[in-house]
Amino acid sequence: MAGDTTARDDTTADHTVASEAAEFIRGRDARPPRVALILGTGLGGLAERIESPVIVDYADIPHFPPTTVAGHAGRLVLGTLEGMPVAAMRGRFHLYEGYTPAQVVHPLRALRLLGADTLIVTNAAGGLDAAQHAGDLLAIADHIGLPTMAGRNPLLGPNDERFGPRFPAMTAAYDPALRALAHQVAAERGIPLRGGVYAMVSGPNYETPAELRFLKAVGAHAVGMSTVPEVIAARHMGMRVLAISCLTNVVFSDDAGTPAEPDHAEVVAAAEAAGARLGELIAGVLRRLPTP
Ligand code: HPA
Repeated sequence: MAGDTTARDDTTADHTVASEAAEFIRGRDARPPRVALILGTGLGGLAERIESPVIVDYADIPHFPPTTVAGHAGRLVLGTLEGMPVAAMRGRFHLYEGYTPAQVVHPLRALRLLGADTLIVTNAAGGLDAAQHAGDLLAIADHIGLPTMAGRNPLLGPNDERFGPRFPAMTAAYDPALRALAHQVAAERGIPLRGGVYAMVSGPNYETPAELRFLKAVGAHAVGMSTVPEVIAARHMGMRVLAISCLTNVVFSDDAGTPAEPDHAEVVAAAEAAGARLGELIAGVLRRLPTP
């Protein structure tokens, strides 16, 4: 499955592949999206609020691999949300499914070529602080991308300047103004929202107790298996990024360092339970999204 669409020694292929996907999507819906939404595990409900939707199955889009995980649909929903033209990915691609990092970010690159200048991405994550609760929302302020730091990075290989620069900065990867807006919307609506650092692991196994202690010690507040490749590609392409984690399980139930064992079904259920609040938050942000 992996590796058939993208050759790492020829990044022209990445641009060609993203352009072909973008052309196909434009043929289904000519409205250019301003915001790309990536809806994580159990968090796809927001797509149902999109007005005048045009739904495109990933399976129909050139070079989009089919998603493989329970709880991840696999459809692009184009339309307007709170008056904002959006393209929402219901279902995303993960490293643990066997896709290359370039394949993981390929749909986002297509949405960028269609005109999206902002990425709003959500995910399910494990909370690393005993003070957190399942269902809490966390606005990602920074990340630690263990796979991307160690070579599983979507920007590896020759750089294609049409996407962005060779050495993009990640200093303010999570747009401060968008984060401030998210916190403001959350406060106005009584939605608890904290900021924090998201650590990405490749998965698919959940972490060992020693790995969790390590992640906590290096300053992570949440751990998950997605998002960082897309954020890196988005910043490479000059997009603004807002990322919200839904903490589906709290790993340390106490500060003594005894981790609770996560369960995929519980993770999906907790994300679904928090979906309405997260949807309200994102809708509120979209309503007041400043022009970049
Ligand atoms: N670890 C990694 N990824 C996750 C978790 C977790 O505990 N919960 C949801 N996604």
